[in-house]
Amino acid sequence: MTTPLRKSTLRRKADVRLTSVVGARPQFVKAAALSRAIDLHNAADPDAPIAETLIHTGQHYDPGLSRVFFDQLEIPAPRINLGVGSGPHGRQTADMLAGLEAVLAADRPDLVLVYGDTNTTLAGALAAAKLGIPIAHIEAGLRSRVMGMPEEINRVVADRLSTLLFCPTRSAVANLKAEGLTRGVRFVGDVMYDAFRMFRARAESDSTILAGLRLSPGGYGLATIHRQENADDPARLRSLFESFSRLAEKDRPIVVPLHPRTRNALRAMRVRLDLGPSVLLIPPVTYLDMIALETSAAVILTDSGGVQKEAAFAGVPCLTLRDETEWPETVEAGFNRVVGTDPKRIARGFHAALKSSRSKPTVGSIYGNGSAARRIVGAIVNHLGRGGPGRS
Ligand code: UD1
Ligand code: UDP
Repeated sequence: MTTPLRKSTLRRKADVRLTSVVGARPQFVKAAALSRAIDLHNAADPDAPIAETLIHTGQHYDPGLSRVFFDQLEIPAPRINLGVGSGPHGRQTADMLAGLEAVLAADRPDLVLVYGDTNTTLAGALAAAKLGIPIAHIEAGLRSRVMGMPEEINRVVADRLSTLLFCPTRSAVANLKAEGLTRGVRFVGDVMYDAFRMFRARAESDSTILAGLRLSPGGYGLATIHRQENADDPARLRSLFESFSRLAEKDRPIVVPLHPRTRNALRAMRVRLDLGPSVLLIPPVTYLDMIALETSAAVILTDSGGVQKEAAFAGVPCLTLRDETEWPETVEAGFNRVVGTDPKRIARGFHAALKSSRSKPTVGSIYGNGSAARRIVGAIVNHLGRGGPGRS
């Protein structure tokens, strides 16, 4: 599956040629912030343009997990979609690696950008490293300290192979220091915070999802589940949904935009779950609809990294349905409780969250000031010694 070249992504005479490797939903949000910052750089300094090429591995391929983000967030169309699709970790990563190696060897960009901790990130980092192309890791330094977690393996390897390690939080910088990584490491803030700030007003004005689902602001809970440890363990998954069913009420439903991994796991259950009418299972929603749902929720329950942070950005109490978090600042700032999957802890956390008054978000500075992507672009240009003020 190859997408035709779009004018804005055509190789042109540029001071810096960057390739972003993306493939999964949260990476499209992160790439949107970067692409916007590159556009701003090019507008400010047209004599030293940066040319960005996107390669989509095809890890996510359902239109609701991929195409809607490109359409809605105005991300440049990928030059190539490798169409790798789903599969066991080894085969999926291997297919991406082979595809990326061929494209990167032909293109020879100045630098490859990888985002977060997915198999796409692992493959992008490995392919670039073997070709001797410098790598910038966006969202470097996060750790769950659970080495069996697929994302932990991916992020540790990506950090080790990267030349520039852009950390979203100061604790991420400290994590890298504890592993002896200081060179190329810098705190820039979180590109997801940039994206949230960029699109929040549009979500408020354009999203009609609350009306469509007959929800009133503050009158519902929002839940997402997709982590392998939850979705692929039938007993855990059943217990989580049974918790949602017990906690949801007619006048305070819980809305669950279902990730396909979770949808498939629920379908595969031998004994069907009777969730009752107050748990609203819906397909994945667009980014603008998700922001709208998040900002008006009474409480958010999630095992997603991005959604935990967005809850904090919006000042909405969050329960993390895992035993650890890579985002301890959200807990320290009082927006997040890590409750795991025990029904009693979830129920206690849920009622406490409902009682807690909504406070003004104060996490902003922890995640930068909304200019993480701009700082990343500036640092890359400086590192490559081209473009911008002071270029030779
Ligand atoms: C991946 C990332 C995870 C990230 C998440 C974001 C890895 C190891 N995991 O998890 O870190 O938080 O993306 O959403 O990279 N499927 C579809 N349609 C799709 C995509 C997936 O039906 O478009 C189904 C397939 O059955 C597939 C399953 O979802 O086997 C899991 O997809 P996969 O990309 O392997 O992992 P995610 O759970 O999405
Ligand atoms: N998201 C979305 N629609 C949904 C669920 C999530 O747009 O139905 C967005 C969410 O707002 C956040 C990102 O996807 O920006 C998080 O992705 P996900 O939870 O899949 O992955 P994680 O952050 O855990 O890696």
